[in-house]
Amino acid sequence: MLNRLEAQSPDALLALIKMHAADDRPDKIDLGVGVYRTGQGDTPVFAAIKAAEQILVDEQDSKSYLGPEGDIGFVNALMPYIFGENATMGGRLAGMQTPGGTGAVRLAVALAQKAGMTKLHMGTPSWPNHAQILGDIDLEMVPFEHANPDGTANVEAVLSAIRGAAPDEGVLLHGCCHNPTGIDYSSAEWDVIGDAIVETGIFPIIDTAYHGLGHGLDEDVAGLRSVLAKVPEAFICYSCDKNFGMYRDRVGAFYILADGQETLDKAFSNANALARASWSMPPDHGAAAVRLILRDSELTLKWQDELEQMRNRMRQVRDTLAEAGVAGSVDLAPLGTQNGLFSVLPVSKEQVAQLREDHGIYMAGSGRINIAGLTMGNIEKFVNAIAEVTG
Ligand code: LMR
Repeated sequence: MLNRLEAQSPDALLALIKMHAADDRPDKIDLGVGVYRTGQGDTPVFAAIKAAEQILVDEQDSKSYLGPEGDIGFVNALMPYIFGENATMGGRLAGMQTPGGTGAVRLAVALAQKAGMTKLHMGTPSWPNHAQILGDIDLEMVPFEHANPDGTANVEAVLSAIRGAAPDEGVLLHGCCHNPTGIDYSSAEWDVIGDAIVETGIFPIIDTAYHGLGHGLDEDVAGLRSVLAKVPEAFICYSCDKNFGMYRDRVGAFYILADGQETLDKAFSNANALARASWSMPPDHGAAAVRLILRDSELTLKWQDELEQMRNRMRQVRDTLAEAGVAGSVDLAPLGTQNGLFSVLPVSKEQVAQLREDHGIYMAGSGRINIAGLTMGNIEKFVNAIAEVTG
């Protein structure tokens, strides 16, 4: 029976991790998978997380089952940070814990399809796993161009996708720090997008995996909040992989905004059933640590401080790249105004391979780079290599 299966190529991003590890050049640079690194090239556990984990070790008295919705204390503690003061939006918003942001996206797409969504419009390029999840669940994806060649958001494209859609269709938006382009909508653009969503009745799914890595915790979700203030229904997918550094602990959340309590309960019960059939219940440890941080004002400040240091470092790398200006045929200036871990360079697959083979610089075939893989010590080598390969 298994012989009937077609072999699948490994996920290209995850394959890069192995290729980079196998390279023994001491000055190799890993700009592949989206993991934050310090100026020394490390991905340390947050001190706030270490402290919370210690509390867990000392005080957790049971590891008995919780349920498909996971650690609701964690889910609720995050809400004011994502949704603001009126976090439950008058009882119309509720969430559940998921295994990472990926679990939240999978749940969102599966639930949308179960509720009758026929197509999902999505700006491309996007995180490659978005398309993989849609393909696996078998929901049709309709692409539109996310960005203009000059490094700005293609607002016309998203608006025309939304305005041309039927109410049984959906649109997937990145809440902030767009993956892979780093190109986000401005507040004025989010405003118009929200209005267009209301006009057509298209269903928004907002994936927010980099909250706090752009301009700040409030700033990064201002667009999301402005859309949610207008629309009757939405799904929000959230990840703590990056902003709490929880990557392998798989800490995410899925929120449903409904037009009233009854619909919310119905939708939530379906999300619960899908979660139960998929992973039964999410892993608890990381979510419990995040909950402990958010319920303790000192730990919360420590976490926010660590997040700010990450943000500042990435801004410094972006500013340095932007100041370098043009390298070969690549204008690095737009990277200065983009946000978060990623930007895409206009390089060909052959140039990406050459950067890897000749210079030990690892990046996705799409030309996406992880900004946090650059440090004040290797940025010059990187800019020179881009100039040489594309010049
Ligand atoms: C990335 O895009 O590199 C991250 O979101 C990690 C992943 O799971 O792909």
